Amino acid sequence: MPDGFTSRDERAAFIAGLPKAELHLHIEGSLEPGLMFELAQRNRVAIPFASVDEVRAAYAFSNLQDFLDIYYQGMGVLHGEQDFYDLTAAYCARAHADNVRHIEIFFDPQGHTTRGVAFETVIAGIDRALRDAEAGYGITSKLIMCFLRHLSEAEAEATLDEALPYLGRIAGVGLDSSEVGHPPAKFERVFARARGLGLKTVAHAGEEGPPTYVHEALDLLKVDRIDHGNRSLEDSALVQRLANEAMTLTVCPLSNLKLCVIDDIAGHPLKTMLDAGLRATVNSDDPSYFGGYVNANYLAVADALDLSKDELLTLARNSFTGSFLDDAAKARHLAAIDAYS
Ligand code: ADE
Ligand code: ZN
Repeated sequence: MPDGFTSRDERAAFIAGLPKAELHLHIEGSLEPGLMFELAQRNRVAIPFASVDEVRAAYAFSNLQDFLDIYYQGMGVLHGEQDFYDLTAAYCARAHADNVRHIEIFFDPQGHTTRGVAFETVIAGIDRALRDAEAGYGITSKLIMCFLRHLSEAEAEATLDEALPYLGRIAGVGLDSSEVGHPPAKFERVFARARGLGLKTVAHAGEEGPPTYVHEALDLLKVDRIDHGNRSLEDSALVQRLANEAMTLTVCPLSNLKLCVIDDIAGHPLKTMLDAGLRATVNSDDPSYFGGYVNANYLAVADALDLSKDELLTLARNSFTGSFLDDAAKARHLAAIDAYS
């Protein structure tokens, strides 16, 4: 055990007590099978599973699209404001249990509005749960509205139009769903409009897509963070640029494993990223589908890559430094990490 850990339990306890932010979490991907069944009953929606075990058995994916097909089907049980509240409240309770102090969560409005659920219903339920989590646990939060990249830019523009009355509750926009074949360039104009409205911007890039997609996210979408970014490592000039620009990467180890972005967790590039001076963070992506919340993600890579205490502290510091919190709040969280170390 490097750097002072005498056992796996000690390493797990260190991770559990570490103050953290989570910057890459799709709220619809935190829908646990138990809540899926409850909401299916509540809303009289048929789901093609007879038991929680059957649901879990269906979560065997060979790539991103395999997962997305099940993910969009799963979110079909969400209908009313209370459903979005219950979903978000359950995630906040899990984040609190992992000593997560700040969350920046994605939501996919087009996954709901295309089924006839009103934008207002989605955002009201999520927002009410986030307010209650701040009051109850002291967890602060930001909401990031993602555009589904398999849909058109015109549909993204219409979604941004729908969001205009709620901009006070939305910190930024993101880009998710099927990556290959849907490069960032497709969304250049809508991202420019979002930036003009004062919104932060992030994009999934380099999860399955090539390094050119990461370049496009930086050059054309002018993103504040890259979500995933794994395939950046194939382009040494890009790695240098990401390091020079102190660009935050929101890395998701168990997601990468479940979606076969990597063959096994020992081959995860997180340590290579840290060694290259990249500002990597650890996140859970879609924890209900990928088998673990944020601490499980830290522990999986810490075990497999023999991460030191210093490396774990760096990852936690990066999560606050790369957040959209103001400087005073960042400084408070970083001081809490200093006190913990
Ligand atoms: N939507 C939810 N999870 C995603 C992921 N890992 N990549 C792209 N789109 C997503
Ligand atoms: Zn994601």
